[in-house]
Amino acid sequence: TEREPVLILMFGATGDLACRKLYPALFELYKKNHEFAVIGLARRQHTHESYRSMIDRTLDQNSEQRRDFLERFYYQPLDVGQPYHFALLKNIAEQIDTKYNLHGNRIFYLSLAPRFFGSAAENLKKAGITETQGWKRAVIEKPFGHDLASAKELNEQLLRVFDESEVYRIDHYLGKEMVQNIEALRFANPIFESIWDHRHIANVQITLSETLGVGDRASYYDQTGALLDMVQNHILQLLILTAMEPPSRFDTEDIRQEKVKVLKAIRTMSRDTIANELIRAQYKAGVMPDGTRITGYHNENNIDTDSKTETFVAARFFVDNYRWSGVPFYIRTGKRMAAKSTEIVIQFKDITQNPFFCQLHKAGPNLLVIHIQPDEGLSLKLNVKEFGEAGDTIPISMNFSNHHDSKSSTPDAYERLIGDCLRGDSTNFTRWDEVAYSWTLTDSIVAAWNDIPLDYYEAGTMGPSSSDELLARDGFCWWPLT
Ligand code: BG6
Repeated sequence: TEREPVLILMFGATGDLACRKLYPALFELYKKNHEFAVIGLARRQHTHESYRSMIDRTLDQNSEQRRDFLERFYYQPLDVGQPYHFALLKNIAEQIDTKYNLHGNRIFYLSLAPRFFGSAAENLKKAGITETQGWKRAVIEKPFGHDLASAKELNEQLLRVFDESEVYRIDHYLGKEMVQNIEALRFANPIFESIWDHRHIANVQITLSETLGVGDRASYYDQTGALLDMVQNHILQLLILTAMEPPSRFDTEDIRQEKVKVLKAIRTMSRDTIANELIRAQYKAGVMPDGTRITGYHNENNIDTDSKTETFVAARFFVDNYRWSGVPFYIRTGKRMAAKSTEIVIQFKDITQNPFFCQLHKAGPNLLVIHIQPDEGLSLKLNVKEFGEAGDTIPISMNFSNHHDSKSSTPDAYERLIGDCLRGDSTNFTRWDEVAYSWTLTDSIVAAWNDIPLDYYEAGTMGPSSSDELLARDGFCWWPLT
């Protein structure tokens, strides 16, 4: 798809996400010759100049192209509930459009709290800003609702103004290098694809552990918790990519179709089963590996002292289709854990009655580990005979890692996703039915999980011991992160 010039209307222009991720990503895209101008929109007062200085502070100060880049940014104070502000916006948008010859192409980047999506979309339409000569696209940040009903409502509000094909729902994990690599790894390597099923795979383990706490997002997080913050979106996406069938063609709709099928096949949890399938926990005081002392979650600023919000979830999912029959997919995620790491481990079944295994217990199962972050790479654990006369069998690891030199050229997830949106490629964005099914699944968990007690783990650990027991019951363990 072609690169075309575009006007980006950035809602939430002074927000944390815009400053941390969006401006630096746009700068990188600008350096790669993408053509755009930006109108920043937020309630705060700014002049074009003070807005540009704010953006400038988010950029790499060594780059010479900063000035040219910043000149393309304009600011307009805007309250999404004020139709009058949109009338002003329409004029400015048209002027900038003409000045830069942007052909009426527009991206509406809604980096806003979801409760503002509805009025933003409606007022854009009423003011005629979405009626242009060119194409239009809307980029939507998470959280897309807090359950199926609210997500549906948001979606209806958006679809009054945008067509489904114009809506780009961001899950920034889909922009990560190694997440995008899962498909290549699976479908371009016959040695893996031919054994990628219940006959050869014993279990799959997905870990998204964080060392960070809730920072200044306490009020959002305390109402959200780990299940909605991380499992409903990022973890399910990683599970889907690991489990999906090869699409018949590598085009957007075929890929998304296969992804939805996995979601539909995930077994929902009920009140009777959930206690065996899921652990919810909150961190208590502890010491991080670097020695930092952490107070318990309910003593953090702006968190209720009797908060029952989970900061950790571990669960066992099953994908009820032929390929995955009986294979547990274990997932875990949490704040204030021992390491920041995202990894997928594929544990292969042992050879039946393996003579080496029986005699030489140092051998371990074959593991394929997909390192998503902070390291980007792969490792494959195999068993070999130890070199030397009385060689025991020992596990070795074959590693591939994306080294530093190439890392600097690895685009950040946001750069990649915004770049896709500029080109009109929505493959790595979530389609409505995908979002809807993931909410159905999470809603079923929420409806059932009041019966399971909240567990606790010490900050700086890999979670409560109940999370280890979840696997131990099936004869497995979490493989240590590398
Ligand atoms: C966000 C969550 O979606 O992902 C945060 O809201 C979390 O709570 C973040 O910290 C993790 O993203 P990353 O890219 O740092 O792994």
